[in-house]
Amino acid sequence: MDISIAGISIPGRGAVVVGVAKDGKLTPAAKTLDEKTEGAIRQVIRSSRFNGNSGQSANLLAPRGTRLDRIVLLGLGDPKSLSEHDLEQIGGRAFNAVANTGVKQAKVIIDAEDLGAKGKISRGAAQAHIAVGAKLASYRFDKYHTKLKDDDKPSLESLAVGARSAAAARDAYDKLEAVADGVFLTRDLVSEPPNVLYPASLAERCQELTKLGVKVEVLGEAQMKKLGMGSLLGVGQGSERESRLVVMQWNGAAKKDKPVAFIGKGVTFDTGGISLKPAAGMEDMKWDMGGSAAVIGTMAALAGRKAKVNAIGVVGLVENMPDGNAQRPGDVVTSMSGQTIEVLNTDAEGRLVLCDALWYTQDRFKPEFMINLATLTGAIIIALGDEYAGMFSNNDKLSERLSEAGEAVNEKLWRFPLHKNYDKKLKSEIADMRNIGNARGAGSITAAQFLQRFVNDVPWAHLDIAGVTWSGSAKPTSPKGGTGYGVRLLDELVRRHYES
Ligand code: BES
Ligand code: MN
Ligand code: ZN
Repeated sequence: MDISIAGISIPGRGAVVVGVAKDGKLTPAAKTLDEKTEGAIRQVIRSSRFNGNSGQSANLLAPRGTRLDRIVLLGLGDPKSLSEHDLEQIGGRAFNAVANTGVKQAKVIIDAEDLGAKGKISRGAAQAHIAVGAKLASYRFDKYHTKLKDDDKPSLESLAVGARSAAAARDAYDKLEAVADGVFLTRDLVSEPPNVLYPASLAERCQELTKLGVKVEVLGEAQMKKLGMGSLLGVGQGSERESRLVVMQWNGAAKKDKPVAFIGKGVTFDTGGISLKPAAGMEDMKWDMGGSAAVIGTMAALAGRKAKVNAIGVVGLVENMPDGNAQRPGDVVTSMSGQTIEVLNTDAEGRLVLCDALWYTQDRFKPEFMINLATLTGAIIIALGDEYAGMFSNNDKLSERLSEAGEAVNEKLWRFPLHKNYDKKLKSEIADMRNIGNARGAGSITAAQFLQRFVNDVPWAHLDIAGVTWSGSAKPTSPKGGTGYGVRLLDELVRRHYES
């Protein structure tokens, strides 16, 4: 889909999307069209419930006095109090309003004088956010459909967002588009079926980031064995597919600057292993590599917009399968840190992968902070559903910064506690720790406590994204399926605090 920034003129053909503020107040473009159509827009407002409230829309088909296919009215609410995120929602709504209507070309002209004024959003930036909202909404994953009819596909071929200061808007949009490309990469990866996406093939997808200037190293099982990653390797040992650890580096700042580090759980399929999961819904476990996909998409975003930061992305890629060589409940494995783990449930595998990836990252890179992302526990879905991801951290400053970045881009985080009394539940009779808590309850917290045992002094946050990685319903800027959660959050965090 071609989404671009253009001048502010009203086109003669196709569809035009214009804004109406609350109480039916017309924006300049809406006013011009109202005059052209001899008052058709005001008539719609008088004769329907549409009155410019946010979230509302109305359509005028084949409007008289024009050669347009349609005019779409979008309710803006109070234009001056719209945030960047609100503007993206408007862009998404504009796209969705025209995508499947039969029109091929659309132009969005939201030219309220005071658009985003309260949040001090410049005119150019406001239009760029509308455009990226449309871009995010336009995502589709239909590479495996061979029989789609034209009517099953969007009719729309291109959408332009009109901007008075088009050059400034284009500059802002270029950066945002690089981030959206990272989101699309993440969505693609979580959508791929597990016979296509497995550790080695996912590692190959990482290698494609070299095109953006990212340095990519891929470690195989022999190298990981040498490093002592017995915990990660234990998870993969029941699979025909070899495990991988991928290290990505984006060096956008001075050599001496400490890197920031993102670590992702990449279980390309989680059967549960010998602690086998029930059949119903098991197909969802193809997206158990969502943490790694978010890390890969974030690296693509940072490199794509040439962020002035040194960033490391480390992803542990394994397939959790139950074959004759699979790890058993009761096995004891030795992690890279030297700590031993009694594996009491082979379905609590994400933490076993992450503990070696975390240890490796802090040992090799001495990062400024470590943030890991993982579809780690079903319990976090019970607690938070699909609205917030769970956050666990040893550092107030890092978690505040993360929360604020999440609010700004609407990838929200809710912080949970860590406490030594939860940690005690990991005590094992036979090894340094067990991989599940010894009592019911607090499943997401005990998982986080487990990870914390592999983190030394470095500021660290664990984001449990099991509830937000995949969506069963469409939102204005993300269709059903992979959400790409995490990319915009981490990009925003870096943009606000960690660029030189
Ligand atoms: N990948 C799952 C968690 C998950 C569940 C993610 C549902 C997305 C949707 C994880 O590996 C897992 O199986 N966790 C277990 C842990 C338990 C055995 C302690 C869980 O949450 O049930
Ligand atoms: Mn599992
Ligand atoms: Zn899992």
